[in-house]
Amino acid sequence: MLVLLAGIFVVHIATVIMLFVSTIANVWVVSDVTRASVGLWKNCTNGGCDDVLSYASEDALKAVQAFMILSIIFSVISLVVFVFQLFTMEKGNRFFLSGATMLVCWLCIMVGVSIYTHHYAGGYGTNYGNSHHGYSFILTWICFCSSFIIGVLYLVLRKK
Ligand SMILES: *[C@@H]1O[C@H](CO)[C@@H](O)[C@H](O)[C@H]1NC(C)=O
Repeated sequence: MLVLLAGIFVVHIATVIMLFVSTIANVWVVSDVTRASVGLWKNCTNGGCDDVLSYASEDALKAVQAFMILSIIFSVISLVVFVFQLFTMEKGNRFFLSGATMLVCWLCIMVGVSIYTHHYAGGYGTNYGNSHHGYSFILTWICFCSSFIIGVLYLVLRKK
């Protein structure tokens, strides 16, 4: 039981870190030809990450940014609630609040990464076909899975 809780705790922290990294790092789509990459905020084409994203003003990108930030917030809230419940909750209860918050985080990741996949994941800039997914994109899908598993485990587990 304690080992399981500790394991979930570690995976939860890893998920928070991965969400941070994937949201901040501009490596969602990488060009195969140059080592350039684009992310949610910047276009890292000419050495530095200061080129303007051609779709920076599109609502779809703003939605992805918003949902990724929301997912970070909910995953942190869920972690705090879990630690709080670990110390204050009566034995035998389920970690319902942390589980529900984590599933909200999972929903935010799902919406954000789905919009990104639909609109932007297919190509770097306008140069479709010469790009692949960067590690931010992959980390986000990993978080999509791990946040769901963590959320469900919180709902199922009882405090011993
Ligand atoms: C990034 O910048 C390069 C060079 O300015 C441009 O060719 C490319 O289309 C841009 N990509 C995006 C997604 O804005």
